[in-house]
Amino acid sequence: MLLDLIQRPRRTRRSDALRRMVRETVLRAEDLIWPLFIHSEADDMAIDSMPGVSRQGRESLLRSCEQAMMLGIPAVALFPCIPAALKDDSGTHAFDAGNLLYSSVAEVKRRFPGLLVITDVALDPYTSHGHDGLLAEGGGSVDNDPTVEALCRLAVLEADAGADLVAPSDMMDGRVVAIRRALDAAGHHDTAILSYAAKFCSAYYGPFRDAVGSKIGKDAISKATYQMDPANAREAVREVLLDVEEGADIVMVKPAGPYLDVIRAVREAVQVPVAAYQVSGEFSQIHAAARLGWLDYERTRDESLLGIKRAGADVILTYFAPEVAAALR
Ligand code: PBG
Repeated sequence: MLLDLIQRPRRTRRSDALRRMVRETVLRAEDLIWPLFIHSEADDMAIDSMPGVSRQGRESLLRSCEQAMMLGIPAVALFPCIPAALKDDSGTHAFDAGNLLYSSVAEVKRRFPGLLVITDVALDPYTSHGHDGLLAEGGGSVDNDPTVEALCRLAVLEADAGADLVAPSDMMDGRVVAIRRALDAAGHHDTAILSYAAKFCSAYYGPFRDAVGSKIGKDAISKATYQMDPANAREAVREVLLDVEEGADIVMVKPAGPYLDVIRAVREAVQVPVAAYQVSGEFSQIHAAARLGWLDYERTRDESLLGIKRAGADVILTYFAPEVAAALR
């Protein structure tokens, strides 16, 4: 029996050549940003909840940067792991111009001037309580305005060290414009702001907090008074529009996979490039399921990234960056 069909969408799926020809979304190495964890020890230290990812020492960091260059990955994002002994309530170590982050940025830029270096602007690597800013009287919540002032100093120190893009990841109100003014006042007119504009209060950050030690003991802290409610998409667009108005050069949605609708809405609302952060938990869950034999590792990995790009992300921060870039060659 033959159906009387004019439309047969399967016609363009018949062969690999046809499928390649009509493919709408293609992932490129240039779309990827590689997040790297650094520490001040010489040897790498594995992160149990993130297979294949380590806190890296100096030599290993430089090797990864060289690898990024070879693979066509345009940027790395550096996350410092600071020893507990150097942390305090107000994150004082963040303002030491010779600290691990600043010296690493300077060295990477010296060795690989063509590689873009991105740094988080937030206090959580340096605070003993693990929050992104300064706590208000009585603890509990982060005090917005004094935190913004601290973030401005941080951003300027990062730009001084050579960061190409600074990435406020704290979700304080008004920080983008304050950072823009502080950078300009310090002569850093060309340092771009990649704002974590719609950053949700997500359980998917768990492995990252293991990696940088931003937990109080073994307890998870709640960042719900500054990071966004996972239920809110309209509010995400509002946050993004504010950041664009305040001078953000690139806006980010984070996490990525569970927020594809937000990425799409943001893509349609702004003209600046949109980044999405496939966070630690998204990475770890694919590894975990693959280890159990429940998912095909490479296909799931690639599909997760394709979905993020198809949703509207121009740039994706992902721990899969080096292996995906290598596979794309
Ligand atoms: C800190 C920061 C976090 C991530 C990036 N920067 C975690 C947090 O807000 O607690 C998460 C990244 C990841 O989970 O991969 N400001």
